[in-house]
Amino acid sequence: MKSTTDRRSFFKKAAVLAGAFSSNSLFEQLHAADILAKNRQYVSLSPQEMAENEDFWATIQQGYPASSSPVLNLNNGGVSPSPLLVLQAVDRYSQLSNQAPSYYMWRILDQGREPLRQKLALLGGCDPDELAINRNATEALNTIIYGLDLQKGDEVIGCKQDYPNMMQAWKQREQREGIRYKQLSFDFPIEDDETIVEAYRQAISPKTKIIHVTHVINWVGQIMPVRKICQMAHEKGLEVIVDGAHSFGLLNFRIPDLEADYFGTSLHKYLSAPIGTGMLWIKKEKISKVWPLLCNGNPKSEDIRKFETLGTRSFPLEQGIGEAVNFHNGIGAERKEARVRYLKNYWAEQALGIPGVNIHTSLQPAYSCAIAGVSVDGLSPQELERQLLGTYKIHTTPISYENIHCVRVSPHVYTRLTDLDRLVAALGELSAAHSSQPLGQKGT
Ligand SMILES: Cc1ncc(COP(=O)(O)O)c(C=O)c1O
Repeated sequence: MKSTTDRRSFFKKAAVLAGAFSSNSLFEQLHAADILAKNRQYVSLSPQEMAENEDFWATIQQGYPASSSPVLNLNNGGVSPSPLLVLQAVDRYSQLSNQAPSYYMWRILDQGREPLRQKLALLGGCDPDELAINRNATEALNTIIYGLDLQKGDEVIGCKQDYPNMMQAWKQREQREGIRYKQLSFDFPIEDDETIVEAYRQAISPKTKIIHVTHVINWVGQIMPVRKICQMAHEKGLEVIVDGAHSFGLLNFRIPDLEADYFGTSLHKYLSAPIGTGMLWIKKEKISKVWPLLCNGNPKSEDIRKFETLGTRSFPLEQGIGEAVNFHNGIGAERKEARVRYLKNYWAEQALGIPGVNIHTSLQPAYSCAIAGVSVDGLSPQELERQLLGTYKIHTTPISYENIHCVRVSPHVYTRLTDLDRLVAALGELSAAHSSQPLGQKGT
């Protein structure tokens, strides 16, 4: 672990190097100082070997102010904090914007959007003309849900474990236009792709037009076999919308390789971009038929930019995305995925060994990455969350929804092993105190 002096020098370097207005100015330079050296030192290590290399990750941890938060944040799946470099960039752009907002935002920062689109396209392995930049996954996916022409009686298949904002959007279309929204229900964890694909296949009827699927289920972190679902759906002439809120910036994949038709994500989750940033991807030939949610003068245009008529919004946040991509690339997508999965398994495997503690997520690499659900016999999810926060200053999120009852834990690249030791110790103590008690009967 680095000393406080090293940490200060890292922040100082970050502050100096983050001065330029560009979306690619700084992380490479920081690498030159600290991380490049580590990359060179460990160039021969595989991502899996790197996942366990605490020396490398200590350098990454120092880039995040959240690594020294008095409350241990284990709800990165909700919103992830940004590294200092991103925060400083946003601050810089914000200071600039507030000198003459319409000049600096609309004439200067606005010019950063096309380079940013290209940078995001490189990351997503797609054509920049298929990417619109917006404010969050809800906006991206609602754009698709409301933008597609459907007739009364047409069917959409989703599942009860999709995200509420999207389920509500489909239900509103159902109420308003008479489309039919069918919902499957899964008992996660499921460690077999075919069971999942088959459930969607069986639900298809001659009226079905669309499958809506969540790439990483937010409640318990199950990774869904999206590509196989898309292939099956396309064989039947259906389109697929993918909710990638938790997958982009976490799992190492190219968006087109999912073989979906539409993909929406937040950038303020595992990419660690500024809070309030998102992205929409639409397969090129489908763009013209999707109506913009926020209207544009040419709604049937083939130009993806028609989805960016958002009115006044935060250009500083938007431009900060570029620095988050730099930071992500500096780590390396494969390494990041391997590290976060390693962190999840590090705590979850230990927790599994504690009597009275249950894990609600598969620990096989194909079926989960960062997120896992945990419960303690004798404690409701709400009580467990309250105890973790109140007694141990560990922030998680309680889930009591449909067939899922657990506390969701989601570490990030800045999480230390000692943080997770703290969680495991807390689970051990809480389990020892409560596991012989009937649910909800005892408080500490
Ligand atoms: C699966 C999933 N989709 C969509 C969203 C919505 O994200 P946002 O609040 O950034 O719009 C979330 C948020 O947690 C989510 O978990």
